[in-house]
Formats: sequence, structure tokens, C-alpha cells
Amino acid sequence: MEVSDKLVLPKAKALPLLGSIFEFAPNPIGFLGKNFSALGENFTFYIGPRKLVATSDPFVFEHVLQLNHRNYSKDFAMHQLSLALGRGLLTNEGESWWKQRRLAQPAFYKKRLDALFEVMFNISNEYIKGLKARNSKQPTFIDKEMMALTSDIAIITLLGTEKTDELIYMQQKFVDVQEHLIKRIRNPFFAPFSHLDGSHNQFNKIMETFDKIIYRIIDEKKKSVPGNDLITMLLEAKDADTGEGMSDKQLRDELITIYVAGHETSGYTLAWAFYAIGKNPEVYAKVKAEVNSVFSKGFQGMDTLKELVYTRQIIDETLRLYPTAYLLSRLIKENDRVNGVALPEGHVVLLSTLYLHRNKKYWQNPEVFNPERFGENGEKEAIKKAYYPFGGGPRMCIGNHFALMETTLVLGMMMYHFDFTLVEDQKIDFQPLVTLKPRYGIQTHLRESKN
Ligand code: HEM
Repeated sequence: MEVSDKLVLPKAKALPLLGSIFEFAPNPIGFLGKNFSALGENFTFYIGPRKLVATSDPFVFEHVLQLNHRNYSKDFAMHQLSLALGRGLLTNEGESWWKQRRLAQPAFYKKRLDALFEVMFNISNEYIKGLKARNSKQPTFIDKEMMALTSDIAIITLLGTEKTDELIYMQQKFVDVQEHLIKRIRNPFFAPFSHLDGSHNQFNKIMETFDKIIYRIIDEKKKSVPGNDLITMLLEAKDADTGEGMSDKQLRDELITIYVAGHETSGYTLAWAFYAIGKNPEVYAKVKAEVNSVFSKGFQGMDTLKELVYTRQIIDETLRLYPTAYLLSRLIKENDRVNGVALPEGHVVLLSTLYLHRNKKYWQNPEVFNPERFGENGEKEAIKKAYYPFGGGPRMCIGNHFALMETTLVLGMMMYHFDFTLVEDQKIDFQPLVTLKPRYGIQTHLRESKN
């Protein structure tokens, strides 16, 4: 298909040859925001040899992720991520991806997730007991606590093992791994240089340690009694045509992907939820009233989750305003167009979830944190059209129900057991790595509630 001239998009200001590298690489969120305001919902830019289309337009999201998804593949960002994640579900493509997705899907069926709910409750309870026992007078970095708790949940429910120092090391080191890969993704000139300055070597060494940890878990799991965890399901999964199981390498790739994808996104979502609640006293009062009424009855299995209606709305609204998967990307295979927007072959389309979720055409007062949008009389049209926290189409997040169940439960329990205020005058900023990290953390004064 030819791309008509009429469809050519506005271009961001650029330096000859280098394009927008100095603006985009250090601050992609600022760069995208500035240009969406100046140029509209869609614009093009380039970074050295790479050509990109940036979008905050729901028609483009729907077209790329769903309606014409076959014309789009994962791009150089995913090739870089695959240096750490191998060919796990997130980075894999084609027939091999489809085969793996079918094998992993049953682990995320509703019935199985329901069975995990009590496990999540028990892990959170233990963690909260530990947090109370620490009774620290120092501010609590709530982002670190939430990452540690969601990591515990992932280790037990997904990897089927106990928390060890090695796994704590892996969780913490993954920030360094991401920083390295993100530099290589955003700056095409850094990739060759990183082989000279020793940073890629260092990255490879960290990955070797990760591999040893994961392969050891696989070995131990093969020798032990099957458990109610993802790794057992993957070990038992057989290809419908050949009857073959997964190789150890494939298992390693899936486990590391699901561990990373499965706790960091949830951990930071919880951290941003605390930030938003701390900034909004009416939201704080309303969620407190709900959790006091729900948890004072004791744990009621799945009914507890069903009753955490407002808590869930807070999670939904957090995923709108602070979507941890803030940017998705795809390579355009052949010239395409949608709703007056040209999508030229060879360009990468950057789907800015963060700005789509703040698009004024669809959301009322989008900068305001308002969980009522997701209530009975909420903004149903916008939710249907302009809300993609878990992506869309066939590559939509496999763990979305797991994540919503986990974050709603953890937020509810934390709000029941603790009172908190945000530390005043702290600096809050985004650190857009693979997920949306709070750059300086989020500090709270956390006190045990007198329930
Ligand atoms: C709040 C939490 C989460 C958010 C915001 C989130 C977001 C996303 C998004 C946007 C995608 C699509 C990426 C793309 O299209 O390029 C994705 C994919 C994926 N997510 Fe999540 N995720 C979350 C939690 C989880 C959890 C808990 C798990 C596992 C237990 C998980 C596992 C995965 C996997 C394996 C994929 C790749 C799926 C495929 O391509 O087949 N995620 N996630």
C-alpha cells in the first residue's frame, strides 16, 4: 500500500543526522509530552538511523495491537530485552511464541488464579507482620517494600521456591540490567561503545549469575514433588503435536520473563497508588472506610476480593495515570494507514500508554487522580477506547488478572493494617526504565493502624 502525502505526519525538531537523540534518550516522557502538545496526537521523529512514529491516538493503538496486528512485529527494544529474557513470551515471535503462549495460558485460568488468592493473602500477611515488627521511626520507602512483597509473591506462586539471598540479589540487580539495556535501546550509538567501555561485559556477568540461579531452581523442581505453581505447570506441559516438553533453555527464558514481568509492574503500581492516595485525602478516607468494613470480618476468600470495589477502582485509576508499562513499541512491516495517520514500513511505532491515558479528547480532567472514573457512573467510553494498561490484542498481558487480584488485595491489606502520610517536600519523578519506576523512591511515614 502506498502512503499518501496527505497523511504525512508532523515532525519533531531534529539535529542533522542525530535527530532527537539528545532530547529523547535522557527524558523520553518529557520529549513525548512536549511534542504531543505541540504537534498533536501523532508525530514522527528520528534517532540516527532509526525512524519512529509516536502516538497517543486510540485508533492507532487499536489498529496496531488488534485490528491489523499481523503487520507489526516486536522491534529493536525487544531484541535488546531478549539479551536478558531470551525467547520468553514477551520477546518471542511467530509460531514459537504462539506455541509457548498456548502452553503457559492454562496457568493463568481463572480457577487456578482463584486457588492462588489465599496463598497471596498468606504471603502478604507474613510480610505485613514483619513490617509491623520493624516498627521503624525512619521514613519507609514504600516502593522498595512493595517490590519486595510482590517479589515474594512471584517467587512462591510462579517459581515455586523459597526466598533466598540469591533471589533478593537478582531482584535488586535487575535495575542495573534494565539501565544498561535501556541505554542501548534509546541510543543506537551506545550499543557498539558498550562493548568497549566494559559495561556490556559486566552485564553478561550478571546474566551468568542469574542463569545459575534459575537453572538451579529448575533442577531442584524436577527432583521434587509437583507443586501448585507455574513452574510445575510448565515442566509438565507437552506440545499437542509432538508430545515434547520444554527444553531447559526455554524454561529458563519463560521463568525469568514471568518473574520479571510479574513482580516489577505490580510493585511499582502499588507504589504509585500509595503516592496518589497520600496526595488525595478524600480518596484516603474512602478507601480506609472500605477496608475497615471488609477486613474486620476476617478473610472470606474470593468474597473479600469482590468487596474491595473502591480499592480496585484505585488500582484501575493508578494504572491510568501511572501506567507501569508506559510505552509499547512495534516495527511496521509494510506501509499502513489508519484514520488519516500514515504508518510507513520500517518505522517503529511508539504507543505512549501514558499520554493516551491523559488524552483530553477522551478523558475528563485527565491530570486529576479520580477513582470514580471506574465506578458505576464513570467514564465508560474512555475506558473502552483509550485505556490500555495491559496492552491489547493477541499479545495482551498474560498476567493481567493475576496482577489485578494481587495489587487490589495487597493495597487493601496495607491500608487496613497501616495509616500513612507522605514525607513532605520529597522529590518525586519518573524514571522510565522498562517499567515506570519512581526515580527517588516514594517515602512515607507508616504507622500501625489501631483497628
Ligand atoms: C500491573 C501489572 C502489570 C502490567 C501493567 C503489565 C503490562 C503488560 C503489558 C502492557 C504487556 C504487553 C506488552 C506488549 O504488547 O509489548 C504485558 C505482557 C506480558 N506480561 Fe504483563 N503486566 C503486569 C503484570 C504481569 C504479571 C503479574 C505477569 C505474570 C505473572 C505478567 C506477564 C506478562 C507476560 C509473560 C507478557 C508477554 C505476553 C505475550 O506477549 O504473550 N505481567 N504486560
